[in-house]
Amino acid sequence: MMKSRVRGLSLSLAALALTQTPAMAEAPFPDAAAAVEYRQGVLKQMGEHSQSLAEVARGRAPYDPEQVKADVAEFRALAAKPWQAFHPGTEGGNARPEVWREPQKFADAAQLLQTRMAELEAAADTGELARVREAFGHTANSCRACHDSFRQRR
Ligand code: HEC
Repeated sequence: MMKSRVRGLSLSLAALALTQTPAMAEAPFPDAAAAVEYRQGVLKQMGEHSQSLAEVARGRAPYDPEQVKADVAEFRALAAKPWQAFHPGTEGGNARPEVWREPQKFADAAQLLQTRMAELEAAADTGELARVREAFGHTANSCRACHDSFRQRR
């Protein structure tokens, strides 16, 4: 009896901790290496989505509206994730120090991507390739703009 009540309590505490997003935004990762690994993993997947959409936009792969919709939905969900892994103390990877020196500019660039992803999703919903192509171009520009300022050139 006692046992199960305690377990119930710790479960609800865990659920509570998960919903406290401000605390998560401060220290969601055990250390810098874990944050770098997480963000690079998500960004890599974003790169894969971007490439497959680029193929469609350039007419090198057939346009399947339902497939593109599903792809864009996953892409959009991914595009919201890496930024929580750039909090102070996670300097490194291939990110430039400017990420932490100009956090507002970096946050604005991440925010612009969210706007572009919403527009891309709306374009995918129309089922018109021309719209998808245009919106994808804007999305890719927002990736590039951030990389130009905040990603190490190799
Ligand atoms: C707000 C800034 C920003 C935006 C927007 C952004 N990136 Fe990046 N990206 C970075 C930074 C910084 C790194 C380096 C991260 C690191 O190594 O710690 C990176 C790294 C990457 C990598 C390399 C990941 C690896 O394997 O190490 C890929 C791929 C990538 N981004 C794709 C994209 C795509 C595709 C988009 C747009 C849909 C995008 N990025 C938008 C900042 C951004």
